[in-house]
Amino acid sequence: MTTSLERIGILGAGVMGSGIAQVMAIAGHEVTCYDIAEEALVKGRETIDTGRFGVRTAVARGKLDQDTADSVLELVTFTTNWDDIGACDVVIEAVPENLELKIATFKKLEATCSAEAILASNSSGFSITALAGATSTPERVIGWHWASPVPVMKLAEITRGPATSDATVETIVRIAAAAGKNPIVIKDQPRTWGYVANRVYAGMRREAQRVVDEGIATPEEVDALLIDCFRWPTGPFSMGRGAGSGWK
Ligand SMILES: NC(=O)c1ccc[n+]([C@@H]2O[C@H](COP(=O)([O-])OP(=O)(O)OC[C@H]3O[C@@H](n4cnc5c(N)ncnc54)[C@H](O)[C@@H]3O)[C@@H](O)[C@H]2O)c1
Repeated sequence: MTTSLERIGILGAGVMGSGIAQVMAIAGHEVTCYDIAEEALVKGRETIDTGRFGVRTAVARGKLDQDTADSVLELVTFTTNWDDIGACDVVIEAVPENLELKIATFKKLEATCSAEAILASNSSGFSITALAGATSTPERVIGWHWASPVPVMKLAEITRGPATSDATVETIVRIAAAAGKNPIVIKDQPRTWGYVANRVYAGMRREAQRVVDEGIATPEEVDALLIDCFRWPTGPFSMGRGAGSGWK
């Protein structure tokens, strides 16, 4: 890959996919956003345009200039035609967190994309080795885990499997950094769900639930205590609700 701007394919136009499409278009990439549901594409487009973290709000808050905002929806093509994904240099999968669905998706990607295309997953925690194993080209499969709200959060948790090539890692790190994210490359661990961020969060969330189950405090009190103690923007219980809804 010689150019610095790639054609980016995104699978799923939900909470994460629509945000990823927005961030990639702001960085100047052409984006093809595919979903099986037409209504998800309509909603995804609206989220980018007028959503709480969309481009119009960003302009109103002085976070984005008008010309860039105008270019975003021109750069993103919304489609239910799977074949459109075949022209992409990098595909970021953001379909629901279901291992069978993701494995089937990676098989389909291998049959559709060029041999050079990078296949990335925004899975919250499935093994990249398992997803790469669905293809015969594991060197171009990588984890690229984003956080919600995508336009705001700097997370770029890049997970490399044992077969992921240096070139694949370098390309994704470059694209993530150029889009204003903070890429950190970690190793895949096939025996656990969650890479680093969600694995550590899950441990903390389990302990928070034990505190509630023991009758020591309510979920609201646990949230407030942790926010007050560590200056976190959200607590362990409100975190789960916000991420699921895209913080609407
Ligand atoms: N929500 C979060 O905070 C968050 C954060 C990081 C990672 N993730 C991960 O991102 C992925 C997507 O999560 P989400 O919250 O955006 O889900 P979502 O339900 O909001 O969106 C998923 C979208 O995928 C579409 N879809 C379903 N099957 C499809 C298929 N075969 N091909 C293409 N599109 C398909 C659905 O129509 C829907 O629009 C999951 O793996 C999730 O674990 C989520």
